[in-house]
Amino acid sequence: MAILGIDIGGSGVKGAPVDPEHGELLAERYRVVTPQPSDVTSVVDAVAEVAAQFSGYERVGVTFPGVVVDGVTRTAANVDKSWVDAPAAQLFADRLGVPVTVLNDADAAGVAEVAFGGHDQNGLLVMLTFGTGIGSALFLNGTLIPNTEFGHLELDGKDAELRASDRAREEGDLSWEKWAGRVQDYLRHLEMLLSPRLFVVGGGVSKKSDKFFPLIDIRTPIVPATLLNNAGIIGAAVTAQLAAGKPSTIGS
Ligand code: BGC
Repeated sequence: MAILGIDIGGSGVKGAPVDPEHGELLAERYRVVTPQPSDVTSVVDAVAEVAAQFSGYERVGVTFPGVVVDGVTRTAANVDKSWVDAPAAQLFADRLGVPVTVLNDADAAGVAEVAFGGHDQNGLLVMLTFGTGIGSALFLNGTLIPNTEFGHLELDGKDAELRASDRAREEGDLSWEKWAGRVQDYLRHLEMLLSPRLFVVGGGVSKKSDKFFPLIDIRTPIVPATLLNNAGIIGAAVTAQLAAGKPSTIGS
């Protein structure tokens, strides 16, 4: 059964039909620019435009860059505030005419990484995405504990993602050394709180892991994400498939 996965990001809304059993895209993905402002109406339009490129899917999984509980978006750190308490799954389902599951973007990327990334699933695994913000996904023995929002831990008296996201690196024109120092402080804080067995680092910057991983001195093993750009799309589709079989606590 093909499932459409759609990833709402800070710069683009991307989607493709997915084979959720194998974690593979069944067609080339289609991307539109994320509307600005990224209010509910404009983003629902953008998601509908992406969905309209494809046919033959029975369900849709959509990622969202904020907390999602029972299909309702609860926070909107890097998108328009009209998303706070929006009935997102219902809005998308009404528009697309099929059941829709919505989940946090980092949770979706983590679901795909854990299922298809080849990582050891034992114990506690923390997936982090460094992009516009910092997304987090926590897994215990392969099971997602959703909406962890570790990107908003305090670092040097500030919201961690304002100091250590990839956007902070770019906007502050930080050297790899300087930025890696902040990432190291952040990871040490997470180590102290959680003692995970593995950190998986995703987001666009993970393609350049050779530039900053060697500068990071922590005890926990750290590896780059393997699925890169398509992790959100695949994880959204996998979660939508799970929701079809049983009630899900992740989305709706
Ligand atoms: C949001 C998270 C999201 C992350 C990455 C943070 O600002 O609060 O929900 O996963 O950005 O998009």
